[in-house]
Amino acid sequence: MRTRLALAVALLACSGGRPFVTRGEPVVTFEGKVEKGPAVLGTTDLESLARRAFEAVPPGGERVRFEGLALAPLLGDTLEVERGADTVVFRGEGGRAAAVPLVSVRQLKPVLADQAGDAPIGAWRREAAPLQLAWPNLDAPGIDSDPRLRWWWLGGVRRVELVSWLATYGKALRVPPGASDAARLGADVLATSCLGCHRLHGAGGTRGPALGAGLVKGDPSAVTARLRLHLQRTSAGAGAPELTPAAVGQVIAFLRAVELAARPDEDIKEPESVEAPPPVLPRR
Ligand code: HEC
Repeated sequence: MRTRLALAVALLACSGGRPFVTRGEPVVTFEGKVEKGPAVLGTTDLESLARRAFEAVPPGGERVRFEGLALAPLLGDTLEVERGADTVVFRGEGGRAAAVPLVSVRQLKPVLADQAGDAPIGAWRREAAPLQLAWPNLDAPGIDSDPRLRWWWLGGVRRVELVSWLATYGKALRVPPGASDAARLGADVLATSCLGCHRLHGAGGTRGPALGAGLVKGDPSAVTARLRLHLQRTSAGAGAPELTPAAVGQVIAFLRAVELAARPDEDIKEPESVEAPPPVLPRR
C-alpha cells in the first residue's frame, strides 16, 4: 500500500511542471488541453513573460505598433500543450471566437497585445481591452491573402482554449456521407467566414444565433439577398467581403444536408394526414 502511494507520488512528480501560479490581477485564462491547466495569467505575468512588438495594419484600420504577450513561446515553453491539441480558440469581444491552428501561431508569431502605439490597448480601441490578438502582417505580407486572417484579429480576449480540431470544429463541420459538392464547399465557407460569430454543434462564437437549416429556410434567393452585406453589417469592419450567392447557396446546402442526416426517420415517415385504408372485411 505504502509503496503504491510512493509510486503514485513519484509518477506525479515525474509528469513534469507544476500548475501555473498567477501573479497580479487575473487577465486571461488558458484552458482545455493545457497540462496542469487551466492557467490564469495575471498583470504581473503579462509584464514578465516573453513579449514581442511589431507594426501591423489591422483590418480596416491604420498602421500601428502592437506590443504584448508573445504567444509562440508561451504555447511552447511556458505552458505545456497536451498531445492532440492542434487548434487555439481565442474568445473575445461580443461573443466572437477565432479558431487558429497551433502551427499558425508558431509560424506567424502573433501577440496578445496590451499596448498599441505605446498606449494601453483600450486607448486605441475600447473593445480591444484587455488583450487584442494582433498579427504581424507587415513582417509577413503574404499572410493577408489567407481569408481567415481578418477574423483572427480579435479584441477583448480573456479566454483561450486549446482543443483538437477534429473533436470540435471538425466534428461540427462533418459533411454527411452522400452530400453534394455544394454542401462540402459550404462547410469550408462556414469554417472561414461564419463560425467566428455563430455556433454549430457547440463549436464557434456566440455573437449571432446558432446556425441550423431553420435559420436559412425559405426562398434561397431571398436568403442570399438578405445575407449579401451580412459580414460588413455585423463586423463593423470596413472591407469585410460580400457574401456571393454561390457561397450562401453552399452554406444552405451544407446546413440542409446536416439536418437531413440527423433526422433520417422523419424523412421516410408517411405524412400523418394520409388516412388509413378502410379495413378489408372478410367476404361471405
Ligand atoms: C462578425 C459576426 C458575424 C459573422 C462573421 C457572421 N454572422 Fe451571421 N449573424 C451575426 C449576428 C450578430 C446576427 C444576429 C443579428 C443580425 O442578424 O444582425 C446574425 C444573424 C444571422 C442570420 C439570421 C438573420 C438573417 O438575416 O437571416 C443568418 C442566416 C446568418 N447570420 C448567417 C451567417 C452566415 C451564413 C455567415 C457566414 C458566411 C455569418 N452569418 C457570419 C453575426 C455574424
